[in-house]
Amino acid sequence: MASSSAKPYCCSSLNPPPPPPPPTPPPLSVLPAAKPRRFSHGLAAVAANPRASRSAVLRPVRACLAAPRRPEYVPDRIDDPNYVRIFDTTLRDGEQSPGATMTSAEKLVVARQLARLGVDIIEAGFPASSPDDLDAVRSIAIEVGNTPVGEDGHVPVICGLSRCNKRDIDAAWEAVRHARKPRIHTFIATSEIHMQHKLRKTPDQVVAIAREMVAYARGLGCPDVEFSPEDAGRSNREFLYHILDEVIKAGATTLNIPDTVGYTLPHEFGKLIADIKANTPGIENAIISTHCQNDLGLASANTLAGAYAGARQLEVTINGIGERAGNASLEEVVMAIKCRRELLGGLYTGINSQHITMTSKMVQEHSGLHVQPHKAIVGANAFAHESGIHQDGMLKFKGTYEIISPDDIGLTRANEFGIVLGKLSGRHAVRTKLVELGYEINDKEFEDFFKRYKEVAEKKKVIIFWSTRFMFSDIHFILLCLKSKARRRHGID
Ligand code: KIV
Repeated sequence: MASSSAKPYCCSSLNPPPPPPPPTPPPLSVLPAAKPRRFSHGLAAVAANPRASRSAVLRPVRACLAAPRRPEYVPDRIDDPNYVRIFDTTLRDGEQSPGATMTSAEKLVVARQLARLGVDIIEAGFPASSPDDLDAVRSIAIEVGNTPVGEDGHVPVICGLSRCNKRDIDAAWEAVRHARKPRIHTFIATSEIHMQHKLRKTPDQVVAIAREMVAYARGLGCPDVEFSPEDAGRSNREFLYHILDEVIKAGATTLNIPDTVGYTLPHEFGKLIADIKANTPGIENAIISTHCQNDLGLASANTLAGAYAGARQLEVTINGIGERAGNASLEEVVMAIKCRRELLGGLYTGINSQHITMTSKMVQEHSGLHVQPHKAIVGANAFAHESGIHQDGMLKFKGTYEIISPDDIGLTRANEFGIVLGKLSGRHAVRTKLVELGYEINDKEFEDFFKRYKEVAEKKKVIIFWSTRFMFSDIHFILLCLKSKARRRHGID
């Protein structure tokens, strides 16, 4: 890979958002007695003119690398070699997460949001699995599959999954055929372990079924057919080249390479994609895709390795939900491509990343699967800073500890620098908070206050947590500290 360039912030928003408004002043009723403000240290300017200070901090880190427009959709070809299709399977593989079932109405709501987010393909479900799922996929195909969204009037492909049998393929076609761009995704296992123990079929039988079913799907009138050799990560290479060659001849337009059990390592998965690209006859007439499960926590890394090796469709889910340990997460893969585009040979996607936060929250709500606080990109702590050293860095220059601007994923923070006051916070952050809240306090008073603050923070972790998330509680917290200082002065403590 090429050498790294040191851009502190990733940002490829074509239209950077307007500067944020100044902080909401705390309600007067809870402010200490109003006095003319007199700031006694170098942070006076921050409090006196927050708007000016913000733009000064933001300006150096908003260097944007604009992505070109999304190429026109043609099933078996992408006219720009750097464009990577994002295939979202939140509503199919994601819904297969234990406990994540969604109603048809919920799936429709999520599908509308996925279209706004700009995914190229929505895998809306597995229509043969139940009449309800067929209905859900059909409703998505009818509405979302025909409604242009965004400035470029994007309409996503609507895809339905099917095993390699006529009943499944008929159900998938019945559900997706209403979309402007319908796709059938059919799969059969190709690893020795699956063919022998699960399918109980010989490799030749598997090839014959795959070839026949891809041709059957095309014969129904579906112009776009994806084929997956399930468990490709553990399949014999020569056998993969052979079956892929046969399904391309039968009309497959996308060849998806699943690491079904999340077994491969990134360099290994990258090589698998590179080998398929180099050795499969007719591969230039199809798109290579990745589908990486997360059993070893490597799904996003494997997906990126696949893209670097030549895959031009990436299968992902919002928040990384999916079977067992989940799938490659859309937000991780997309933001890695956006942030490190130069190191990935100039790849780009059609995702409008400013919809990421909203989409993540919606999927959490409807699937009932909540992300851990430290989840990359969308976790509650992903843009929060509690340690004093980090807070000091953030207050001086945000690029010191953040590689992505929260604006780029549509995140509005409770406070501009993502500062969370806790027991590890330092003087700089605590004093800034006081100034922000309008407290007049001299250096000596601040030192007393800071000492007391640390004592309280060590004991009252929960109060600190709540107090720093919401303005009104901040004030309660400050008052609490000041009150305890007064109580001590009067010998009450
Ligand atoms: O994990 C898997 O192999 C799948 C295929 C159906 C693509 O979900």
